[in-house]
Amino acid sequence: MKALVLAGGSGTRLRPFSYSMPKQLIPIANTPVLVHVLDSVRELGVSEVGVIVGDRGHEIEAVLGDGARLGVRVTYIPQDAPRGLAHTVSIARDFLGDDDFVMYLGDNMLPDGVAEIAEEFTRKRPAAQVVVHKVPDPRSFGVAELGPDGEVLRLVEKPPQPRSDMALIGVYFFTAAIHEAVAAIAPSARGELEITDAVQWLVASGADVRASLYDGYWKDTGRVEDVLECNNHLLDGLAPRVDGQVDADSVLVGQVVIEAGARVVRSRIEGPALIGAGTVVQDSHVGPYTSVGRDCAVTDSRLEGSIALDEASVTGVRGLRDSLIGRAASIGTTGPGTDHHCLVVGDHTRVEVAA
Ligand code: G1P
Repeated sequence: MKALVLAGGSGTRLRPFSYSMPKQLIPIANTPVLVHVLDSVRELGVSEVGVIVGDRGHEIEAVLGDGARLGVRVTYIPQDAPRGLAHTVSIARDFLGDDDFVMYLGDNMLPDGVAEIAEEFTRKRPAAQVVVHKVPDPRSFGVAELGPDGEVLRLVEKPPQPRSDMALIGVYFFTAAIHEAVAAIAPSARGELEITDAVQWLVASGADVRASLYDGYWKDTGRVEDVLECNNHLLDGLAPRVDGQVDADSVLVGQVVIEAGARVVRSRIEGPALIGAGTVVQDSHVGPYTSVGRDCAVTDSRLEGSIALDEASVTGVRGLRDSLIGRAASIGTTGPGTDHHCLVVGDHTRVEVAA
């Protein structure tokens, strides 16, 4: 089996971060979402991975390289514009050949793994097997209507009146039968070739299409609140480890990781929390539920339920919570005797201060 991982989407819901980095590289527990995805693909025993990239392909390539570090072989497949998930299957035709493959959206996190579903697909080999999850409001997803034995009766993309609560969650197993379906469908109202329509074409043509319920943790990391929530979830499973330096005046509580080269001075780190390599935390209280990237500086501050990306600095700010702080961003104070805020706020940025 091969894998087709989709990392071409532009991520408008993740602005301003997606202005300066592909959304698939946002770190969750200090590891880019896309690396989590490739780990999950490798756990299925898949080593040949096609990665669909858009105009940010060079940044993704800089992180994944040829895949060797992650135990896979990566082939990059450029997509000129977001023309839909089914379009990616057609441009990957040469890479895929007639092999079975798993298609995996590069911004979806399924940390509990889909190994059992992959095994079922390999054993029963239906034409296609989709992964579904019960959601309270499925209107923004592909929705599946299922028969009693998990057979798919009908699939509809983003129905205004969903006929089930089973949403498609970004992982699909296909045989080569999908190629004829992709070639047969027309673009949807949003102008894209929808994979949901291609799978529905298979259903309508009488092919065996099945659905498997994934009832583990799932998150589409499309928005800032999803990224923070997913970070909390992953930090809950953190194995404590101290490779950096922690001075005698500091306290670590609970599941805390201090990476090599990080320094904690006169501070309290409350787990679950992750302090990245080369970061210095001084006279501060960090955590719980906080990931600080590499080479950051947190001084005289209180940071909780947040993510700081590499090289960020926070100085003298005692009430930061539920925040996502970008690369090399700096948050500080206006200095003694002042009573104003001073902000340099990028496009589509959100700032909330205590009233
Ligand atoms: C895509 C699919 C949709 C699926 C969703 C999962 O939607 O078209 O069927 O439920 O991914 O995240 P999009 O994110 O392109 O709107």
